[in-house]
Amino acid sequence: MPAGGTLDRFGVAGGDVVLEVGPGPGYYSIEASRRVGPDGRLICLDLQRDMIEQLRGRLAEADVSAETGVANATRLPLTDDRIDVAYLITVLGEVPDPEAALAEMRRVLKPGGTLGLGETMGDPDYIRLGKLREMCGRAGFVEATCHHDVLGYTITFRSP
Ligand SMILES: C[S@@+](CC[C@H](N)C(=O)[O-])C[C@H]1O[C@@H](n2cnc3c(N)ncnc32)[C@H](O)[C@@H]1O
Repeated sequence: MPAGGTLDRFGVAGGDVVLEVGPGPGYYSIEASRRVGPDGRLICLDLQRDMIEQLRGRLAEADVSAETGVANATRLPLTDDRIDVAYLITVLGEVPDPEAALAEMRRVLKPGGTLGLGETMGDPDYIRLGKLREMCGRAGFVEATCHHDVLGYTITFRSP
């Protein structure tokens, strides 16, 4: 799916403070930066320094901006309750302690903020939808939307 379709599902909009964890080289980040616009902020954090360097190059080429940094999903360098939308696309399955990552998303999201997750079938780290729902429920998230097809799924949750 084009990046814009996924960001529509996650509700990324102008003026939002958006956190993308595990952007890799930035397939979603350029469109996300355009969407939040001059009144919003996009923060992109990845565990791998070389991914962040590639991402910075692609953002510069596209003439869009984001705050970027190397960080672990389980220990975000962000204060509490500041994010409108946090999303992870084919990332959570790579995190050895996904429950700790979800607790971090809950900590940094504003009350009522959105957590967006995407998983692609065939990914060696694919998380089954049922397992993901259980983990997010245990972390205190409330399911809002889900789109599931043969290629995988996207799902959103509200932070209470
Ligand atoms: C399969 S790639 C997905 C990239 C991008 N989200 C996409 O869908 O095009 C997974 C990314 O998650 C990052 N990642 C894995 N574990 C992470 C962690 N614990 N904290 C932050 N990023 C992580 C990897 O470095 C990699 O860039």
